[in-house]
Amino acid sequence: MSRTILITGAAKGIGRAVAEDFASDAENRLILLDMDLPELQRWVDERQEQIKARVETHWANIADLPAMETFFKTLGTQLDYVDVLVNSAGICNENEPEDLKNWHQVISVNLNGTFYVTSLCLALMPDRGRIINMSSILGRAGKVRNTAYCASKHGIVGMTKALALDLAPRQITVNAILPAWIDTPMLQGELATQAAIAGLTQEQIVRNAKKKLPMRRFIQSEEVAAMVRYLASPEAGGVTAQSLVIDGGVGLGM
Ligand SMILES: NC(=O)c1ccc[n+]([C@@H]2O[C@H](COP(=O)([O-])OP(=O)(O)OC[C@H]3O[C@@H](n4cnc5c(N)ncnc54)[C@H](O)[C@@H]3O)[C@@H](O)[C@H]2O)c1
Repeated sequence: MSRTILITGAAKGIGRAVAEDFASDAENRLILLDMDLPELQRWVDERQEQIKARVETHWANIADLPAMETFFKTLGTQLDYVDVLVNSAGICNENEPEDLKNWHQVISVNLNGTFYVTSLCLALMPDRGRIINMSSILGRAGKVRNTAYCASKHGIVGMTKALALDLAPRQITVNAILPAWIDTPMLQGELATQAAIAGLTQEQIVRNAKKKLPMRRFIQSEEVAAMVRYLASPEAGGVTAQSLVIDGGVGLGM
């Protein structure tokens, strides 16, 4: 089955794992977007031997609406369809409740940016297309110093449910994945910040964190990519408006 798959945040972490997964199929065409184009291109060059799909890399800031409009206008002249959209780009800056600057930054990337890309991509999406949004376990729960991040990820869940209903008559499915404790640069960055605050080494903070997790391990981004692969498959055609959690059980127990 020949498909075009557009992935945001493809340079690192979950987005990269999703790209790697789809890249093993020679029938796929991948459109990979990230703000960190050098890192995205470095990874693609390094994986040339393994990559079977046709891959294009693009610099993009999903929060920049005029730039994204221009990007999709050009893309529309180069291809007919985007069959699968995976919105993985995101940031996790913490903020104090008084901190409006950070609030706007997080909302503009995680929520507005995700919606801009989705909305603009719709013109290229055929019936039976797939939209998969990375929310978070913090799309269901709260966390201190995370009003903006939690609001953005709750927002993605709401947007997913409503858009799924808009697009259901066209058999386009829209689902959210709610990850937690995925071993990516984002998680390692958060742990480094916590280590600095607690005066611990990275190894100590990782050990402490794993002790609190039911599975005593971080989840690999490839495990999230497998979930994306399922949601993008024909077999998942009846799964829409859902929030699928991948957190090793941490969200449901102490
Ligand atoms: N890692 C986790 O445990 C975890 C948990 C819950 C939710 N998530 C969500 O999953 C998604 C991926 O997270 P990750 O851990 O892979 O993060 P990451 O930081 O490892 O990778 C995110 C990628 O998005 C890109 N990016 C950031 N802002 C962008 C922008 N404005 N425009 C284009 N690209 C941009 C970054 O350059 C980076 O390559 C995020 O939306 C994140 O909130 C991750």
